[in-house]
Amino acid sequence: MTQNIAVLDFGSQYTQVIARRVRECKVFSKIYRYDVSPEILKRDNICGVIFSGGPASVLSDGSPRPNKAIFEMGVPVLGICYGIQLLAHMLGGEVGKGVAREYGKGMLTVTDKDCVLLKNLPEKSQVWNSHGDKLVKLPDGFKAVAVTENSEFAVIENVKRHFYGMQFHPEVMHTEKGMDILKNFLYEVCLCKGDWSMASFVETTVDNIRKTVGDKNVILALSGGVDSSVAAVLIQKAIGDQLTCVFVDHGLLRLNEREKVEAMYRDHFKIKLITVDAESRFLKELAGVTDPEQKRKIIGREFITVFENEVKNVGHVDFLGQGTIYPDVIESIPIDGNPAAMIKSHHNVGGLPERMKLKLLEPLRELFKDEVRAVGAELGMPRHVLWRHPFPGPGLAVRCLGEIRKEYLDILRKADDIFIEELYSNGLYYDVWQAFAVFLPVRTVGVMGDERTYDYVIALRAVNSTDAMTADWSQLPHDFLGKVSTRIINEVRGVNRVVLDISSKPPATIEWE
Ligand code: XMP
Repeated sequence: MTQNIAVLDFGSQYTQVIARRVRECKVFSKIYRYDVSPEILKRDNICGVIFSGGPASVLSDGSPRPNKAIFEMGVPVLGICYGIQLLAHMLGGEVGKGVAREYGKGMLTVTDKDCVLLKNLPEKSQVWNSHGDKLVKLPDGFKAVAVTENSEFAVIENVKRHFYGMQFHPEVMHTEKGMDILKNFLYEVCLCKGDWSMASFVETTVDNIRKTVGDKNVILALSGGVDSSVAAVLIQKAIGDQLTCVFVDHGLLRLNEREKVEAMYRDHFKIKLITVDAESRFLKELAGVTDPEQKRKIIGREFITVFENEVKNVGHVDFLGQGTIYPDVIESIPIDGNPAAMIKSHHNVGGLPERMKLKLLEPLRELFKDEVRAVGAELGMPRHVLWRHPFPGPGLAVRCLGEIRKEYLDILRKADDIFIEELYSNGLYYDVWQAFAVFLPVRTVGVMGDERTYDYVIALRAVNSTDAMTADWSQLPHDFLGKVSTRIINEVRGVNRVVLDISSKPPATIEWE
């Protein structure tokens, strides 16, 4: 069983970053609620525990605490920021409230060169702090091994019990030697083997899928996006034709999208793929509807109905395959004003598993997005599939403002295709996070040749983002934008004006509806 480092979440904004950094060091890591039981950790084969930072003060009533029995498990513990204060407070030291707050950059000086956690670190290096409370007295058995300007206990250790703590954040990039410290914890303290790789993941997951599914059948709604596509290829590798993928063409797709999906998954990956032409059904239901929420609701409802009908045609099916990934399932913990608790659920086929009594098969649910891409690469999937820009479930419906008409969609498809094609051919596609065209049902006056025109407007949207929560508009070269505009106006009948969206999120959103 793969070795696992447990990251206990005390509400830090960096909890996911810690788990990702550990995995980058080739050690598997999972995030747990701060009060997880030692039994669960034992079941999950943990070989070390990291306490995340967090916004609370250990001195406040009701501040989150780990189960004390974790200290008796005999596994190494690393406390980061709030985590070091927990170690000190729960093991008999003393924490002072708001004494000498440290925020931002600091200089770490190693005072004990024999400390394995700081092995090979230079005497001085930059670290990133963000804490109000501070350790004032160490618990018995601990000693300080490094200091910063404001803290004589910047790094502490209890060699006998393998407990370590640090006031600063090793997981953030501004801590120069943060990765070295984490590696030392993993390899020198926890004695990890480094057995986490995408190749080993594929091997064990293929095995697990075979055992779980047996001779039963799996259905999967393939969207062509990264997550559902990697899930499909992985499940197909495990069980071949016991997997059927359904791709619904709701008429709101980009130019030639259905054909491209068929070529990639049916012809190249040999996946049993059903494509459903449901364009007329969707467009009929959407006719005359202008309210964005209403449009989304209709599309969601129709999608489920169409998909459900197809499932019935496939015969007996026991499992629903889904491309759920780790950020979709991590529960965020509300601590001291942190965002409300929410468990995001995968939305494509909401409610379907319960209604059709299907079991879920989610082979990617423990992977971060970059790992999903690495698995795809391991499975031989091409770069343009794995690094495709995100595309919303309701498709072009949210980019064709107001009422949806086929005539509008056709204009949008052509304009969008020119924009994307030019991004590729100018080597810019992978520099932007998401790019697309938007159809504005507004007619403006223009001249073409000797004639006056009265045609529609296309807006270009390109953004850079990391998680879609915030985004900046991409500063594409002017000559590139000029070329795209000229091509769209010349080649797409019905368009005589192209505009550029230069709003950031927030306050705008990425999509227009
Ligand atoms: P917004 O417009 O909210 O979009 O800034 C953030 C990201 O989410 C995508 N998006 C969706 N994805 N179903 C999806 O699967 C949807 O209904 C949906 N709406 C927006 C959007 O393309 C952007 O990447």
